[in-house]
Amino acid sequence: MSRALSPSDPTPIHLDHVRLLRGTTTVFDDLTLRLTESRIGLIGDNGAGKSSLFRLICGLDKPQSGSVSVWGHDAQSQPVERVGLVGMMFQNPDDQIIFPTVEEELALSLSPNGLPRKVNCQQARQVLTARGLGHWAERAIGSLSQGQRQHVCWLALMIASPRSVLLDEPYSSLDLPGRAMLDMEISKASQQVIVSTHLLDHVRGFERVIWLDKGQVRADGQGTSVCSAYEADVAARCLSQSMNID
Ligand SMILES: Nc1ncnc2c1ncn2[C@@H]1O[C@H](COP(=O)(O)OP(=O)(O)OP(=O)(O)O)[C@@H](O)[C@H]1O
Ligand SMILES: [Mg+2]
Repeated sequence: MSRALSPSDPTPIHLDHVRLLRGTTTVFDDLTLRLTESRIGLIGDNGAGKSSLFRLICGLDKPQSGSVSVWGHDAQSQPVERVGLVGMMFQNPDDQIIFPTVEEELALSLSPNGLPRKVNCQQARQVLTARGLGHWAERAIGSLSQGQRQHVCWLALMIASPRSVLLDEPYSSLDLPGRAMLDMEISKASQQVIVSTHLLDHVRGFERVIWLDKGQVRADGQGTSVCSAYEADVAARCLSQSMNID
């Protein structure tokens, strides 16, 4: 983050004894987490609860019990995304994108400034031009590739500039240059950034990585050690499965 947290700052993200059901599945049962570091990785098997955790933090889902606060605001009773406290890049860009063209989608991120939409579209175009992507401005979002749509979602989030940024599998459709660029932008970002990923090398160097296992924190600490522990567990499970197959 641009400045160290002082003791008087509210905790960026705090989940307190959270219980969450999705459908008939209990995703979290009494989960407590304080997320204060500027770079946090979130890893774990499919279905472990990574996206569900992000949805809770953004206020998209409400816990059955417990509370979630974001920079001192209750995520379920305040529009924490709209007031610029937190923003999320969805696992599937099509769940995030609303408008038909790239410039309109990016202009949406500027809408809290209260300026006319036309002005915000012009500013969005300038952002694209500065990145050598001016030719995308009037492109129909549907005509972009999956990776290009993911890129638009990242730009939208950067323009909105919330205090905490949640990236759900942001690398999944990006090509190698796109992944390298995203790594660089994350390293430069002034906000708190939390990245959920199956590509461990992108978070291995983070000061904190949380390994979620069936909705519970299995390990929580330095990126290098938590990623190694997860890899060792996966290797052991693969070995035991292969022995069962033989
Ligand atoms: N819309 C839904 N309705 C019911 N259950 C759901 C829904 N979405 C997710 N779940 C369940 O919630 C649990 C956590 O899912 P979640 O999507 O948070 O996992 P994840 O860690 O993000 O997985 P992945 O790595 O596949 O993205 C899983 O058991 C999943 O089946
Ligand atoms: Mg997910």
